[in-house]
Amino acid sequence: MKLSTKLLSGAAICAATSAGAVDLEVMHWWTSGGEANAVSKLAEAWNATGNAWVDGAIAGGGDTARPIMVSRIIGGDPPAAFQFNHGRQAEELIDAGLLVDLTDVAEANNWKEIINPPSLLDACTIDGKIYCAPVNIHSWQWMWLSNAAYEKAGVPVPTNWSEFMDTAPKLQEAGITPLAMGGQSWQQNGAFGVMAVALGGVDAWTKVNADKDADTVMGPEYTKVFEAYGAARALAAGLNVQDWNQATSAVIEGTAGAQIMGDWAQGEFALAGKVAGMDYDCLPGLGETGVLSTGGDAFYFPVNSDADITAGQKELAALLVSPEVQVAFNSAKGSLPIRGDVDLTTVNTCTQKGLDLLKDGKTIPDAATLLSPDTTTQLNDLLTEFWNTPAMTPAEVQQQYADIIASAD
Ligand code: GAL
Repeated sequence: MKLSTKLLSGAAICAATSAGAVDLEVMHWWTSGGEANAVSKLAEAWNATGNAWVDGAIAGGGDTARPIMVSRIIGGDPPAAFQFNHGRQAEELIDAGLLVDLTDVAEANNWKEIINPPSLLDACTIDGKIYCAPVNIHSWQWMWLSNAAYEKAGVPVPTNWSEFMDTAPKLQEAGITPLAMGGQSWQQNGAFGVMAVALGGVDAWTKVNADKDADTVMGPEYTKVFEAYGAARALAAGLNVQDWNQATSAVIEGTAGAQIMGDWAQGEFALAGKVAGMDYDCLPGLGETGVLSTGGDAFYFPVNSDADITAGQKELAALLVSPEVQVAFNSAKGSLPIRGDVDLTTVNTCTQKGLDLLKDGKTIPDAATLLSPDTTTQLNDLLTEFWNTPAMTPAEVQQQYADIIASAD
């Protein structure tokens, strides 16, 4: 997709009001209860500066929202800011010169010194220039468990994947769905990635995702993963929901035992008034391989011809990384702040597990920083086909997965 460097007016949606204050339209895909609560912290902070946040939420998740944002930008009607994940999603927009260079903001605010891990800023950096403001660390590597569901089934809450598998029949006898999984393909691919790290090991996962090594996909570690993924598919039967947060709701209500999902799920538990360690439990790396992936979100800013808007975009970028906004947003979002110099003493027991992994350096990159969006989409499509086709065997999907990795970029 060749993108033109047409200078974008931006007049349509972002306006300079009196005294240099600006209305900035900010596009994102945060529409679940917990997400909306968290993004409202960003809007409140920006509005408190005398500027105005024009909310551009898009329902349906990132896979739905990103193409809409890109078409607005290359169509000459860009928002003032938009959310993407850390990684390679904005590569083409940056290469086409369509995004604002924030290097001056980063230098003026010491982002290189304060942003941790540094890989978050690296993911925003192309040819030495910085094009995004990272706002959080989200890890996919989690399983969330309903203490009420396991109590109802009369079995202890699992502390690892094998105990989850062993206790699943008891949950089914009690009319509870052992594994909550939404219907969107990114959820099924994400969960597979978590199982690959936890059951196949970080080395095999890295060979596949970073080195694009198809032989490892056909090797013993991943064979174990595909068999476990096939078994997990059977344990999700009985709960038909689309959105990830609907699956989280089933765990919150105790009609499902567990969900493999990123720690954005914590925003839903918090909004429901659920207490970590009491109402729900959490297993980093499925309780098998304690690891945190450093994915998450960042804001990018399309270039425009209005100096006030550009000044406003840079002011917003700095504000998103500021200590107060980092604490307010991340506590509501369920993610970790991107700076270590903020007060994290009041976090819950699950977030503390994440912080401990980060402190101990037990981190891996997020797949979105290693695989191109195109490869990610192919894997989404393959795994959702498998998830929805009971007759498809783990061996069949394994071979097709290897074929995709063999030609991955
Ligand atoms: C991720 C994003 C998270 C989360 C999730 C579900 O891509 O990084 O912030 O909200 O989507 O929408």
